[in-house]
Amino acid sequence: MKMAQNNTEWNENQLRKYDFTLEDIPRFDCNDPNVDILISSNRPVVITGTNLVSTANKWNLEYLEKNMGNSDFTVFVSRNHIFKYYDEKKITRPLANGEIYKVDFVPPTTRRDMKISEFITKLKQWKRGDDRLYLQQALNNTIGSSIVQDFRGFNWSWVNVKQKANSWGPLTSNLLLISMEGNVTPCHYDEQQNFFAEIRGHKRCILFPPEQFECLYPYPVYHPHDRQSQVDFEKPDYSRFPKLREARGMQAVIGPGDVLYIPIYWWHHVESLMRGGYTISVNFWYKAGPTGEIVYPLKGHQKVAIMRNVEKMLLEALQDPREVGPLLRTLVLGRYTE
Ligand code: FUM
Ligand code: FE
Repeated sequence: MKMAQNNTEWNENQLRKYDFTLEDIPRFDCNDPNVDILISSNRPVVITGTNLVSTANKWNLEYLEKNMGNSDFTVFVSRNHIFKYYDEKKITRPLANGEIYKVDFVPPTTRRDMKISEFITKLKQWKRGDDRLYLQQALNNTIGSSIVQDFRGFNWSWVNVKQKANSWGPLTSNLLLISMEGNVTPCHYDEQQNFFAEIRGHKRCILFPPEQFECLYPYPVYHPHDRQSQVDFEKPDYSRFPKLREARGMQAVIGPGDVLYIPIYWWHHVESLMRGGYTISVNFWYKAGPTGEIVYPLKGHQKVAIMRNVEKMLLEALQDPREVGPLLRTLVLGRYTE
């Protein structure tokens, strides 16, 4: 990887090993015109020099413990290094006949409310074999006043200009992520535009374009793991997921001061480097803008949106997740297949 050159902050041995062919995500200073070209064409870019979250440069465990406030914060707990997102609301589903359908699913992590002091103590005392923790908390009015002050000092004018220039919808949230070294958020896509700002430590981000939907095999929309890839990158099952061999990704290691643009519907896998200490990041999530004039052929992300809608419509019409697959098979096999 190119980023390893002139780099003394991390080394290749801190990256987990996967089978994919990966090219580098381009990296440009915020004044470089390529930044706008890439953002406006929904392509990822690492942007330097934005000062987007430089008021948070002082955030470390001591500062956060002192200033986060006494509220409960959301912490995910995992037996291993994988923190795969799931939607609790999708674990059960009432059927038309009054029965409750329960998806065959074991939550891979547990969500806990924790005071910041408990989280930080656990982080500092952690040793191999202990449960791992990952704090993922929206920056909202439960946060202490010094942090709010720092938040107000973010470079809002820079993000606001990008939001306007690209006709994005409103900012929906800023998620604060405090991760143990080695934690992994496995491959998934979000339905929002994301400026991902790194504050402390290094994260390796692997991205795939929405066009590679069939290589990454997302769960059905009704499943709690909706939007997540079914593929285990560490033990890929090529007999179940043969198209995974065709996946071609992009990657970047981001450090303090870097902002990664993760375009809407782009797959992303994020790992806090092994043996790199804890990491702190903040997400800026924006709703998609109005569709505007539609240009054909449709782009990959528009097709993903259509597929999601088709699945949701079938669920709505059939009222039973178990009927969706058989109906789709009947519709397609021998008719739309060679
Ligand atoms: O672990 C992470 O930093 C994940 C971020 C994301 O999915 O946006
Ligand atoms: Fe995400």
